[in-house]
Amino acid sequence: MEQKLLELQNEAISQIENAEDLKSLNDIRVAYLGKKGPITEVLRGMGKLSAEERPKMGALANDVRSAIQEKLDEKLNRLEQEAVLKQLESETIDVTLPGRPVKQGNHHPLTRIVEEIEDLFIGMGYQVAEGPEVEQDYYNFEALNLPKGHPARDMQDSFYITEDTLLRTHTSPVQARTMEKHQGKGPVKIICPGKVYRRDNDDATHSHQFMQIEGLVIDEKITMADLKGTLEVFAKKMFGSDREIRLRPSFFPFTEPSVEMDISCKICGGKGCSVCKGTGWIEILGAGMVHPNVLEMAGFDSKKYTGFAFGMGPERIAMLKYGVDDIRHFYTNDIRFLKQFAKYEA
Ligand code: DAH
Repeated sequence: MEQKLLELQNEAISQIENAEDLKSLNDIRVAYLGKKGPITEVLRGMGKLSAEERPKMGALANDVRSAIQEKLDEKLNRLEQEAVLKQLESETIDVTLPGRPVKQGNHHPLTRIVEEIEDLFIGMGYQVAEGPEVEQDYYNFEALNLPKGHPARDMQDSFYITEDTLLRTHTSPVQARTMEKHQGKGPVKIICPGKVYRRDNDDATHSHQFMQIEGLVIDEKITMADLKGTLEVFAKKMFGSDREIRLRPSFFPFTEPSVEMDISCKICGGKGCSVCKGTGWIEILGAGMVHPNVLEMAGFDSKKYTGFAFGMGPERIAMLKYGVDDIRHFYTNDIRFLKQFAKYEA
């Protein structure tokens, strides 16, 4: 019996050594150490042994079992390690392979212009303010010195939602809202970028939805000279230090006096061309001194406080700056158009 057990041990160990994968190793374990295996079989014959031999055989059988188990564990470890190594080898990355280029987007030209203008004014101490696109008639018109029935309301064809609410036709209502929040106390120094809506037919220079940037400064002793100086700094930073500005008298119900600002035409240097329609000047924005009625309606004492305001269209500025000939390019998202602005990315 001793002989038989040792033979089984040798046989099992040599099979374990030759096992090539985890499955055959498990088969060997079941075959030798399982309930129906040969060792159990041998042990069943122990009854026939003498009382002295029985414990000796029992101990030997246990030794054989643990020797096989030990060998199995050792081999299992080795196979597992080999599997990990193989996996690592098959998963190595060839760092010498050339990479695939990552497609990178760029800012929309209008986003660029708005951010550029925001930065410029933030640098002069302004804060950025926002207001709702669905606006009350009161803020869009009335608080800006445009009572119901005022003929100047026709300057801005509006999308009304109810009798008292509409899609804002300009960013000027943010002026009225901000002033109201200040409760009659200056200073106020804001710019307000945002979308506005008008009942216009879309063409190369008109869109039913476009952007505006509004500016408002209110404090004691603000004069037209402050307005002109501010606009001049803006125009030169935006379009180049060689550009001249001029202010022309104009009319807006919310400012008195009102002006429009032109910049000298860069293309013809002032001689007159198709871009400036032969005048040598290009209109950029509307502005003026805040009307006393507007100040008073928002709760400011118009004897103590004065202010200036201006409103401009980022699309128009982008068109002039980048030479874009159709406003609709900004909204149709043709990737070939948008990609041309990648070169301006920082
Ligand atoms: N809100 C005017 C428009 O949409 C633009 C404008 C002109 C705004 C003069 C102003 C201003 O603040 O002072 O046509």
